Amino acid sequence: MDIDVSHYKRIVILTGAGVSAASGIRTFRGKDGIWDEHNVGEYGHVSVLNKRPDLTWKLFGQLRTQVRESQPNKAHLVLAALERNLDPSQQFTLITQNVDGLHRRAGSINVVELHGNVTRIRCSNDDCDLAPYHDEAIHDRGVLLCQKCLSVLRPDIVLFGEQLPPVQSAQAKLVLQDCDLFVAIGTSGIVPPAARYVQMADTAGARTICVNLEPMAPRNAAFKEEYLGKAEELLPGLFGVGH
Ligand code: OAD
Ligand code: ZN
Repeated sequence: MDIDVSHYKRIVILTGAGVSAASGIRTFRGKDGIWDEHNVGEYGHVSVLNKRPDLTWKLFGQLRTQVRESQPNKAHLVLAALERNLDPSQQFTLITQNVDGLHRRAGSINVVELHGNVTRIRCSNDDCDLAPYHDEAIHDRGVLLCQKCLSVLRPDIVLFGEQLPPVQSAQAKLVLQDCDLFVAIGTSGIVPPAARYVQMADTAGARTICVNLEPMAPRNAAFKEEYLGKAEELLPGLFGVGH
């Protein structure tokens, strides 16, 4: 066991698409990334939602299909077990950039979904009072309209060109500024603000660790340790859980 969490009081884990790769959900970047096929930055931009919402639904319909067919993998399960096994005096926050909801399905409790959840739908009209709702249907053809105001409905996720949700963003910053262990797992770490989170953790004096398939390029000096390999294979041994 390389990371003995019993030594830490305020633990923050940050996860990215690599954690869900073994569940069959494709990563954005890296080998076989979605980016190779679609320019996600272009199709996933908020301007597309405004002009051609059918294209937004088409792109995220694919992801919704994958999410519906997937199950949490060993990486999700280890992180859920880690949280469950902690002493009540220890604080644990799992910040995820993933929109697939697999951490909660695996049993993680204190999860901050920084980029939203693709199985939640909301109205694109900020003044509308339609409550966001859970929906797993695919909807990759055509456009859904809000029953209350007839605006376009959208997946409740952060699109390119949009700000992070303020509540989740504030929650993340709050725990980062006094954490003592920070572990980033399965994230290329090149999309802000996640790339900055390690700096905040380092400034707070935390032990900072990166677990990813590929070495960081360019290297972020705020990470003091790096473990290379598949999250679902490395995590049980690293944390001494579930193997
Ligand atoms: P990326 O797809 O950018 O990066 C995933 C990383 O996981 C890559 O560096 C892969 O090498 C690595 N990886 C692949 N399989 C792995 C495995 N089995 N174990 C460990 N690592 C593995 O995904 P994110 O960093 O999450 O935003 O991307 C951040 C954001 O970019 C996403 O949330 C998305 C996108 O724009 C939104 O949807 C708003
Ligand atoms: Zn509405």
